[in-house]
Amino acid sequence: MASVSVDEAMRRAIDLAARGLGTTSPNPVVGCVLLDADGEVVGEGFHAYAGGPHAEIVALAQAGTRARGGTAVVTLEPCDHTGRTGPCSHALIAAGVSRVVIAVPDPNPVASGGAATLRAAGVQVALGVRAQEAEVGNVAWLTSMRRGWPYLIWKYAATLDGRSAAADGTSMWITSEAARIDVHALRGTVDAVLAGVGTVLADDPRLTARNLRDGTMAIRQPLRVVVDSSGRTPADARVRDGAARTWVATAAEVGAGPDGRVDLAALLAELHHRGVRAALLEGGPTLAGAFLAAGLVDKIVGYVAPKLLGAGPTALLDAGVTTIADAIDLEITDVTRVGPDLRITALPRKREA
Ligand SMILES: NC(=O)c1ccc[n+]([C@@H]2O[C@H](COP(=O)([O-])OP(=O)(O)OC[C@H]3O[C@@H](n4cnc5c(N)ncnc54)[C@H](OP(=O)(O)O)[C@@H]3O)[C@@H](O)[C@H]2O)c1
Repeated sequence: MASVSVDEAMRRAIDLAARGLGTTSPNPVVGCVLLDADGEVVGEGFHAYAGGPHAEIVALAQAGTRARGGTAVVTLEPCDHTGRTGPCSHALIAAGVSRVVIAVPDPNPVASGGAATLRAAGVQVALGVRAQEAEVGNVAWLTSMRRGWPYLIWKYAATLDGRSAAADGTSMWITSEAARIDVHALRGTVDAVLAGVGTVLADDPRLTARNLRDGTMAIRQPLRVVVDSSGRTPADARVRDGAARTWVATAAEVGAGPDGRVDLAALLAELHHRGVRAALLEGGPTLAGAFLAAGLVDKIVGYVAPKLLGAGPTALLDAGVTTIADAIDLEITDVTRVGPDLRITALPRKREA
């Protein structure tokens, strides 16, 4: 096989890492490519699920003795601690790898230190190769580890004139089946799905990740979280159906903000504590407004249907904006047609303090 450059190998490692998206949490996604001393690929691996072998271990097992004197190209600094598996830094040293090329350092204080251990053992270490791309691939995990609360995606569905329901309250279905299938795939990539009690009372959603065509449940279900200050979620609500874990987060349990409602920052901190790294906020407009006003939303995914209603509730209520100068500015990062609808992905621009 022809030899490949370290840069090409990192590109491949980033692609491999992406295969673990949605199944590795609370661990990161990681990919690894092992090159022998001639630069030939002799092993590849990615971290597939928490508790399973790390990317480096999978690649080392493939490479066997050909790893000796070679280069390990890995998207995240190899771990240096014994968790459910042993330290990857030690495994790389034991295999006789002479160089380790890393995209992004590990921000997790429990697992970091792999680069230092490798250097101390005489292994050459290079950091920062294709770091930006690797950051994007691991953005939810890296963001949540650095600041201590989950990466929060607000998803909504609306008509072209921004309505989330008609004047009589009917809202099923604003968007197409294709868009709803897309949403279920999105649910499958996060650790928790959040909705306000208003949505639970109005729509009685299941909030599970399913195959919409045959109803089968995804193997890994996100934690369902109802944000419900005074515990109004009915005993027979579908979110309590046992199909997935559910947490009705009340102000008594989480803490209350100045308005007596659930303290949203405390809620996110508690979710982080429970291992949630990426969360999907599915509504409705009151809760979404409160999260946006607090600056707690990292990404917005809007499904916009080619329909007009002219009246009815809007997709977003009070987000703390009263004048145009205070509008929440967004950077649109993707626009994709999903069936007849548009999926618009945007990032809120950071506001000046
Ligand atoms: N188109 C869409 O994408 C979409 C998505 C979801 C829902 N919806 C629609 O939205 C409608 C329901 O709207 P909604 O605004 O009543 O629902 P919501 O935003 O899901 O729930 C609002 C409730 O959340 C609770 N809450 C707890 N802590 C809060 C906090 N810190 N800040 C704000 N709220 C907090 C409040 O009740 P307590 O104070 O009692 O806790 C509040 O009334 C339904 O008709 C549904 O169809 C549309």
